[in-house]
Amino acid sequence: MDINKVARQHLEMENFFSGFTIKGNFEAPEQQNTEDDMTVSEKIAELEKIAEEVHQCRKCGLGSLRTNTVPGEGNPNARIMFIGEGPGADEDAQGRPFVGRAGQLLDKVIAACGLKRTDVFIGNILKCRPPDNRDPRPDEIISCLPYLQKQIELINPEVIVALGAHAARTLLNTNKPIGQLRGQFHEYYSGIGRPPIKLMATYHTAYLLRNYSPENRRRVWEDMQKVLTELGLPIPEQTKG
Ligand code: URA
Repeated sequence: MDINKVARQHLEMENFFSGFTIKGNFEAPEQQNTEDDMTVSEKIAELEKIAEEVHQCRKCGLGSLRTNTVPGEGNPNARIMFIGEGPGADEDAQGRPFVGRAGQLLDKVIAACGLKRTDVFIGNILKCRPPDNRDPRPDEIISCLPYLQKQIELINPEVIVALGAHAARTLLNTNKPIGQLRGQFHEYYSGIGRPPIKLMATYHTAYLLRNYSPENRRRVWEDMQKVLTELGLPIPEQTKG
């Protein structure tokens, strides 16, 4: 391991997306979803039921390898859902999504948007860690996807942000590269008779850590600005790069 590289990345990460201020007295908006007829406590109960099903799940080989399941967490009325690929070592140890280095960077992206982690919902395509952080296998995705589909259906966000190629390709049912998918809104269909949900694909924060260029950072920030505009939220001012 290149210790200098890790130390440099850590320092850079500390600065990344932390140079934004929010103009005026902006407060995170009330999380509301007027089309839903379920109460928040009913939604929480349903989300807990899904988490319990995930805890019991042995549909694929990952079930016997995990330390903890990582069903996802956040606001049951979130306007934005961030979807990653699958838990890594830190997530597997804690049973929570995006708590390692990629998660710290995601926290900064969320903060740069003027939001808190509790405003959004954070989940993954896979609910259990693939060994050695290998890519999810098609059979694992097929087994696991119904849990995420149910979570999306319940939360019914206005925008899904797919982090990285695996999340974007799975949710959009395409093989296109992330470079082609990112930066524009796509449509995610959560069920017959339901209007499509806008989906923005962007780079995964783990990819960003490995490819930490100003261009890639700018691209992610541009993608997030489009999400904020779509939601009618103010775009926090960037005071330094
Ligand atoms: N990467 C992911 O895709 N998901 C996590 O929860 C953490 C890292």
